[in-house]
Amino acid sequence: MLKVLFVDGTIIGRKTGNVLDTVQRYIQETGAQIEVERIDFSDFEHQFVDGRPLHAYNEDMQKLVKMFESADGYVIATPIFQGSIPGVLKNAFDLLHPHVMRYKPVSIVANGGTYQHYLVVENQLKPILDYFRCLVTPNYVYTHTTHFNEQNQIVDEDVHGRLRELARVFVKYAEMSRDLPKKALDE
Ligand SMILES: Cc1cc2nc3c(=O)[nH]c(=O)nc-3n(C[C@H](O)[C@H](O)[C@H](O)COP(=O)(O)O)c2cc1C
Repeated sequence: MLKVLFVDGTIIGRKTGNVLDTVQRYIQETGAQIEVERIDFSDFEHQFVDGRPLHAYNEDMQKLVKMFESADGYVIATPIFQGSIPGVLKNAFDLLHPHVMRYKPVSIVANGGTYQHYLVVENQLKPILDYFRCLVTPNYVYTHTTHFNEQNQIVDEDVHGRLRELARVFVKYAEMSRDLPKKALDE
């Protein structure tokens, strides 16, 4: 059974969490043998990464690292803040050992108030995940404020279609990653 960590990478806002719920549902609907784990950054007390050893961080930060380490794949949800990802998400990435997500599948869902800011996924989030050598799926879903109703539920059918497709491809990437040894040849 593959363990997938669903990451809501923000401490403000509800839309990314709702998009994540929707992908989670679509991944489960594929019938794939996947164990779901969820991490909502708003439930955690974050500390700035400052180079101290892991045991010197609070329990939440240590738990965050353990959850990333024990997962076999990730769906990462992020809002766009100031033309970038939230500081709290970058801070979490900074806390991880560079090998933690290596050769593991990752799908991205992002939300912003500006149509053009899907480019933040292309130019900022994907390069970080490439650095970690993740198997980033070729499709991601960027949602905009207009895709939601007042309860922050996705009302745009095209978005639902893209999230279903994302779920289907993510499951295939997860299967592909299962047979890929996570250690490099020279380790
Ligand atoms: C501090 C801050 C900065 C933001 N900067 C951007 C931005 O640069 N581009 C953009 O498209 N949306 C921006 N937004 C809008 C957020 O992306 C949007 O609020 C978020 O995706 C979540 O929506 P929600 O707060 O209604 O749940 C910003 C929001 C905040 C709070």
